[in-house]
Amino acid sequence: MLKLVKAEPPASADPDARRPPKLVRVWDPLVRLFHWSLVLGFAVAWFSANRAEDLHTWVGYAVGGLILLRLLWGVLGTRYARFSSFVKGPLGVAAYLLAILKGSEARYIGHNPAGGAMVLALMAGVLGLVVTGWMQFTDAWYGEDWVTNLHALIAHGLLALILLHLGGVALASLRHHENLVRAMVTGRKRAAQGNDIA
Ligand code: HEM
Ligand code: HEM
Repeated sequence: MLKLVKAEPPASADPDARRPPKLVRVWDPLVRLFHWSLVLGFAVAWFSANRAEDLHTWVGYAVGGLILLRLLWGVLGTRYARFSSFVKGPLGVAAYLLAILKGSEARYIGHNPAGGAMVLALMAGVLGLVVTGWMQFTDAWYGEDWVTNLHALIAHGLLALILLHLGGVALASLRHHENLVRAMVTGRKRAAQGNDIA
């Protein structure tokens, strides 16, 4: 006679595998507000350049203010916002880039070493724009071509860095099967597992 037996999951099946992954808070509200205001401010400054001087200068200064606030938060802020948690030396960054080439880079809960270097470069670029922008309105440097040219050069260099930044975000999202853009909106990421670095 045919006996019905309830199917048992294979003994090796991980009981955690079917549960939704645990999420942890990573980006605090100030980091998220800073980031998306910076994106908006950069876009407005970019498209108002040579068109609406007042808008351009004021948005440019506001974006500079955001960077100063973030620098302070990088010292006083929450765990993953602090520079000490994500700024690595050139060797650490080089080792991480090499690991990417080999396809063996670890997943970081905060910024990875290459991302950390990019954060510093992006912030330095914006500050460079604010300083060279301000210089164009001072008696000492008014009408100096080299200042205007330097401002334009930094702006275009920063745009190239931003494209690289987007490439890095896309690559890390694909490699670690997570949506980093969504994480910068919600502040949450999948908790560390295995070799992930928390
Ligand atoms: C739509 C365009 C952009 C997207 C989708 C985007 C996305 C992201 C994401 C996902 C992160 C977190 C990376 C990680 O998980 O380690 C991040 C961080 C960052 N991005 Fe962007 N980004 C954009 C544009 C920009 C622009 C235009 C700038 C600068 C002008 C910028 C500057 C930064 C900075 C400074 C951080 C570090 C945030 C912090 O720790 O406070 N991003 N971005
Ligand atoms: C995120 C911040 C900023 C961005 C992205 C930005 C970007 C640009 C760009 C793309 C140009 C056009 C360069 C060219 O002609 O090829 C420009 C021009 C200019 N910017 Fe900015 N800028 C920023 C901040 C500032 C600030 C804070 C000031 C002043 C306080 C400023 C003052 C100027 C001036 C006066 C020009 C016109 C230069 C000329 O005569 O052609 N900018 N900026």
